[in-house]
Amino acid sequence: MNIVHVVGTGTIGEPLIGLLADHKADFGIDEVTFHKRTPLITERGKVNDLVRRGAVLAVDEDKRSSFEELGHTPKWEAREAIERASVVIDCTPVGNDNKAEFYDSAPNPKGFMAQGSEFGFGKMYARGINDDSLVSGVDRFLHIVSCNTHNIAVLIKTLAMDPDGTNHLTDGRFICIRRSNDISQDSGFAPSPTVERHKDARFGTHHARDAHGLFETLGYDLNLFSSALKLNSQYMHQIHFSLSLDREMDLDEVRERLAANKRVAITYKKSANSVFSFGRDHGYFGRILSQTVVAIDTVTVRNGNELVGYCFTPQDGNPLLSTLAATLWYIHPAEVDTRIDVLRPYLFQEV
Ligand SMILES: NC(=O)c1ccc[n+]([C@@H]2O[C@H](COP(=O)([O-])OP(=O)(O)OC[C@H]3O[C@@H](n4cnc5c(N)ncnc54)[C@H](OP(=O)(O)O)[C@@H]3O)[C@@H](O)[C@H]2O)c1
Repeated sequence: MNIVHVVGTGTIGEPLIGLLADHKADFGIDEVTFHKRTPLITERGKVNDLVRRGAVLAVDEDKRSSFEELGHTPKWEAREAIERASVVIDCTPVGNDNKAEFYDSAPNPKGFMAQGSEFGFGKMYARGINDDSLVSGVDRFLHIVSCNTHNIAVLIKTLAMDPDGTNHLTDGRFICIRRSNDISQDSGFAPSPTVERHKDARFGTHHARDAHGLFETLGYDLNLFSSALKLNSQYMHQIHFSLSLDREMDLDEVRERLAANKRVAITYKKSANSVFSFGRDHGYFGRILSQTVVAIDTVTVRNGNELVGYCFTPQDGNPLLSTLAATLWYIHPAEVDTRIDVLRPYLFQEV
């Protein structure tokens, strides 16, 4: 029996539980369970809808009666739900703590995943970037890299590497122009553009560090550096990129390379709100599942070998797709591509 258990119902957990429950049959999953930590009347509607769509609620034993008072009927206790699962997907900001407390001592699940913030949880993974590095029976813990890391990685793989893996990147610079809090979140809004420290002497911020770690799983040692700032907007992250290559490349080749990667979308739109709004009308519950949306009119070639431009990051879309691909790799390793097909309509070539 294939059981997928999601821990956390926030910005990443909520859409993931819905996606797994809605497409259980396509994905070959028998049961989807999820853990919610805090009983909240403001989140009763969310839990009820996920249960209506077929997902099964698990809670901590000492919170059971509070959930019941809200009208919920939790079926599993937190640890029990982990132990009976085939795959556990942690979607909290405390995945590493949960690993130490619960996952390390749970023998049954084939695999565990945690999300962007949980550096060190396991092998870094992004769909289409380092699938070849996954080793069956060995990689039981995966760290699904953050949305901006997905974006940086797909730019490098598409524009600076050849299909045979030859790397042409000599210097990759990225300015992550981040949205404030997610539209699902009430706290953490940035009242005005706010810059971040370069905490990492070699990589700047965690975005380049994580992209380096992702490619390291394939044996590369890339020269990357990132900076980050937050804007007082809730729509989408943008990235300004500069990729210096060891060879010349013209704009026609840039366009051809972008068009050849089905995980890359291009857009002639210039604003985050218009790209975001496209997702609202055409995406999966509002989400664009492409790994990047490149603002094609902004892309230019400097000095013949430096590719410069802007792109938009589908912030929760790209980790969702990688999380699903990794889940399928654990439970149906030979059928990942066919089973994930149902989501292809949300991977756009043009936004
Ligand atoms: N937001 C994004 O766009 C985005 C994109 C890519 C990756 N990620 C990654 O996804 C992970 C989760 O982020 P998120 O934005 O989804 O978070 P979030 O919206 O704040 O949700 C966090 C969830 O974790 C649960 N939780 C359980 N134990 C917790 C604890 N000790 N402290 C805080 N929350 C706890 C919360 O449960 P209760 O509410 O029931 O207490 C809540 O459901 C992080 O690793 C983040 O880096 C986020």
